[in-house]
Amino acid sequence: MRKDVRILLVGEPKVGKTSLIMSLVSEEFPDEVPLRAEEITIPADVTPERVPTHIVDYSGTYTRTSLYDETHMACIAVLIFYLCNVNGSAVSHHIVPLILVGNKSDLVEHSSMETILPIMNQYSEIETCVECSAKNLKNISELFYYAQKAVLHPTGPLYSPEDKE
Ligand code: GTP
Ligand code: MG
Repeated sequence: MRKDVRILLVGEPKVGKTSLIMSLVSEEFPDEVPLRAEEITIPADVTPERVPTHIVDYSGTYTRTSLYDETHMACIAVLIFYLCNVNGSAVSHHIVPLILVGNKSDLVEHSSMETILPIMNQYSEIETCVECSAKNLKNISELFYYAQKAVLHPTGPLYSPEDKE
């Protein structure tokens, strides 16, 4: 059994990484956010899986450690993108399991799941995908719960052709 979970938020600038963390913590959308949120630790007794959970923000312009080092320390990465701008190119760099999160759902009228699902099927490291909005507080606690769950109860692919060799 793991003794804690470390979740790293990554993604292009301005997709809403810091806002998502602040929305989770304060349960309201912050008008202004710093470039990078301080690391926060959620105590075990208030997490669904009863495991202390660290949430780490990443900002390309304001982080002393490299993305590589941060990713190595993490158990799971949450890759945030802007729902209007879905693309799979960032996925392949990751060395830990990944959750794909389309933020700012308040700004789009239609679900983008049709675009996201093919990306998800292409990469086995993607555990799940979620649409959310830091602004409307939609799916915020859910996405951190999914990240925690993916670490504690990893699900491998049911069938992988390469493994059959
Ligand atoms: P960097 O730290 O610069 O990489 O950016 P970031 O990914 O941390 O994004 P940040 O949280 O600073 O948000 C960027 C802008 O998007 C801000 O103006 C936020 O208010 C806005 N924003 C974040 N989340 C949402 C959302 O769910 N809906 C809307 N409409 N705007 C959002
Ligand atoms: Mg930020």
